[in-house]
Amino acid sequence: MNILLLGSGGREHALAWKLVQSPLCGRLWAAPGNPGIAQDATCVSLDAADHAAVIAFCEEKTIGLVVIGPEAPLVDGLADSLRDKGFAVFGPSQAAAQLEGSKGFTKDLCARANIPTGGYVRVSSEADGIAALEKFGAPVVVKADGLAAGKGVTVAMTMAEAEDAVRDIFAGRFGEAGAEAVIEEFLEGEEASFFALTDGATIVAFASAQDHKRVGDGDTGPNTGGMGAYSPAPVLTPVLEAEAMTRIIAPTVKTLADEGMPYSGVLFLGLMLTRDGPKLIEYNCRFGDPECQVMMMRLESDLVELLHACAENRLGAIQPPRFSDQTALTVVMATRGYPGTPDKGGAIDGLAAAEAEGAKVFHAGTALKDGRLVASGGRVLNVTACGASVSEAQHRAYAAVDAISFPTGFCRRDIGWREAARESSVV
Ligand code: AMP
Ligand code: GLY
Repeated sequence: MNILLLGSGGREHALAWKLVQSPLCGRLWAAPGNPGIAQDATCVSLDAADHAAVIAFCEEKTIGLVVIGPEAPLVDGLADSLRDKGFAVFGPSQAAAQLEGSKGFTKDLCARANIPTGGYVRVSSEADGIAALEKFGAPVVVKADGLAAGKGVTVAMTMAEAEDAVRDIFAGRFGEAGAEAVIEEFLEGEEASFFALTDGATIVAFASAQDHKRVGDGDTGPNTGGMGAYSPAPVLTPVLEAEAMTRIIAPTVKTLADEGMPYSGVLFLGLMLTRDGPKLIEYNCRFGDPECQVMMMRLESDLVELLHACAENRLGAIQPPRFSDQTALTVVMATRGYPGTPDKGGAIDGLAAAEAEGAKVFHAGTALKDGRLVASGGRVLNVTACGASVSEAQHRAYAAVDAISFPTGFCRRDIGWREAARESSVV
């Protein structure tokens, strides 16, 4: 079966790497891809916003499965356009992708389905936003409603900071994504991510992971798309996972199906493990980046079979996904300036030496310039390794990082620190 994969990040490199391992995979195309993805797929320049062009490509190449990596084309309805033409697509419809595309939509759904999450108020003006802050008091969380490239959330420790965040949103800082906002109760606890596959009826657990959102060691500095991750996240125990399945995921899938917008694809839950159990912070309608990279390292099942079954509403008829017991850990190497304006063009060497250390290096923002690998985006490489524990995987991943020469790059040196500390305290 020929497959088209959309996207160009480390997540898509990990998906491409796993898709081509399947005996079911015929020709793999990636749009637009990156130099790492080009090792596994044929990269083509297709604009995901041009639905007619994507459909024409799929018809010409007899594509049997389209895998949509990032959220923007999903929220833009690309899966619907392709399904209307009869193509099998991994990824939710535009209606179901509102789970990520509108924070207010998700909060209202949680309220209707009695799903544990923080208290909230939806507001559509600065005055209403400022009034709503009073209801919670600081600390409080202010969120632009729509997609804001991970920058639309302010966890405000003071009322002044919260008021500034509300003013920013309604002054148009996030454009249309800030036409509405959500004011939300601050939740305390440790964060973890959980992933499940669903075809709208059957739900299967995928895996857990923990991300490191802040740019600096010790979780300091501004938020990023994620500076590293590991999987599984033992903090999400089997009991907590089961609770997330029954109290959060199952009612979400059922409510969306009952309301005529069945969800098909991967559900990515951002959870806060509070004293009252797991609460939903947010939903994403895609695999996490860099969480996908660590989950693909551990996945033993055939990814094409899983994603195709999801797309064809027959997830219940195949074996659920199997994972290795090993821990996988990835360290993101970013280019100087990230998450602000990244310093592009810096040379990168030593990837073969890093992989000789037993790691797998997924490409994110890389490009080839005069035959040389250079940085072309904020997050550049995902140096990924496995081990019997987080500490072992961490050790191997950093040995590989140290084999890479990337003078304009940087990385956190403490990915996995929470779990590594727990491991060293249990002797
Ligand atoms: P989101 O984009 O909704 O995942 O929010 C980004 C980050 O803000 C999350 O990963 C949390 O660290 C934090 N956050 C969001 N909502 C809350 C909340 N209600 N309480 C505490 N922290 C939150
Ligand atoms: N790493 C977080 C995300 O993909 O949204």
